Amino acid sequence: MNKNMMTKKDYYDQYDNHQNMRDNVKKDKNRLHYHLMPPTGWLNDPNGLCQKDGIYHIYFQYTPYDCNWGIKLWGHYTSTDMIHFKEEEPFLYPDQKEDRDGVYSGSAYVEDGKIYYFYTGNVKLNDRDDYDYINDGREQNTLSFTSEDGMEISRKKLILDNDDYPHNMSKHVRDPKIFKKGKYYYMVLGARTKDSQGCVLLYRSQDLQNFQYYNCITTPQPFGYMWECPDLLEIDGQLFLICCPQGVRQNGYDYANVYQMGYFQLEYDFEQNQYNLGEFKELDRGFDIYAPQSFIDEKGRHILYAWMGIPDASYHNDPTIQYGWQHALTIPRTLIQKDGKIIQQPLAEMKQLRKEKYEMDIDQWNETSYDDVCYEMDIEFKNQKDFQIQIRDDVFLNYKDHVLTLSLGTSGCGRDQRSVEIKEVRHLDIWSDTSALEIFVNGGQEVFTTRVYSETLSQHLYFHTSHQGKLSYYPLDSYQIEKNEK
Ligand code: FRU
Repeated sequence: MNKNMMTKKDYYDQYDNHQNMRDNVKKDKNRLHYHLMPPTGWLNDPNGLCQKDGIYHIYFQYTPYDCNWGIKLWGHYTSTDMIHFKEEEPFLYPDQKEDRDGVYSGSAYVEDGKIYYFYTGNVKLNDRDDYDYINDGREQNTLSFTSEDGMEISRKKLILDNDDYPHNMSKHVRDPKIFKKGKYYYMVLGARTKDSQGCVLLYRSQDLQNFQYYNCITTPQPFGYMWECPDLLEIDGQLFLICCPQGVRQNGYDYANVYQMGYFQLEYDFEQNQYNLGEFKELDRGFDIYAPQSFIDEKGRHILYAWMGIPDASYHNDPTIQYGWQHALTIPRTLIQKDGKIIQQPLAEMKQLRKEKYEMDIDQWNETSYDDVCYEMDIEFKNQKDFQIQIRDDVFLNYKDHVLTLSLGTSGCGRDQRSVEIKEVRHLDIWSDTSALEIFVNGGQEVFTTRVYSETLSQHLYFHTSHQGKLSYYPLDSYQIEKNEK
């Protein structure tokens, strides 16, 4: 057996030894109040997002006993209202030869009373001489299973392996997501060609079991070497391909992070099998954002979660690592489309966290210090002017010459500045949690998501502006999270 495997039994064998880790996480002042974070250890991508029989299932890449990159399980939260959550036991374990080095990212598709899951079984044959991480010595298996309740699963089935991918692919093919159009189910997989061009592979099926290769979607000119976590979705008749290109060079204010998260507008003639990709647009301008996944809930809303983190960044999260955990998910965001652009808005349920409401004109808000950094602040500007808002002692949002800039001081742990050009700022919706900020600009036309590690959680908020406008300030409650003890 490979040392990396972690069966359910292995997980529980080690569970008692990690009581200390669990206690430590609870002591951390930076633990988040209304963001889903790992119970202990490491979290990355949201996985398998779905709603079935009223219950939302939010799974995630999870390394329970190590707060750095390690063996991947799927952790699991459930909720019926997106405010009260249950921490469930891990859902998926790397316990087969086809997924022995990690149950990598995947998704869920609900139909006819069943949830169909698809994920990548990662196998690193690093004991072999030809293992080189990219082109050889690696299996990227696509596996599938079903569940009626999102808890108990059927046997895992291998549905695609290396031989089913086009010959010009490297051994980086992963992160299946399903999209239905007409009588066909399409599966998108993120991939890297042998020539290191990022692309998305499209497979087609009529029964969700047998998938045939259909096409490879990419840009005419290479746009990065690998595209991870693809998501094909249709909002109001407009198709979008969301993905995470790696290896795109920074261009002015664009592509400032090590890896990107964004989308292409997509025109697809599925009968002729011809497509046209629009321009790539970033979904978020912040430091900590990657690996998004959307799903359609029972109300028909497109809801997106993303990993509030990013691999291989130059900045760090040492303050939480010291307490035995790292990373979190963003708040859920409803996606709508406007003029071919994706707009992100905090999920309506988040408003239930508002405890009180303080309303005032901006010019009445001179300097205020607040004891609780967990708040939402909604600002409606009546006229257009440059401004500076001091969000925390060393965190500023600056608008000058049509450029909006978020800058962090030492509390950024290496995060410095991110900017976006924007004609006018009419509206800001700032969500502040202990160690996270999500700033929605102009109703979600742009977003900045970042971690921040302020020394104390009593901070100053200050407006430097001669703006006219209305401001609503809401102190926020925490999510209620209960552990589902079996
Ligand atoms: C993105 C990613 C995915 C992969 C998973 C592994 O963050 O690298 O491509 O499936 O994380 O945890």
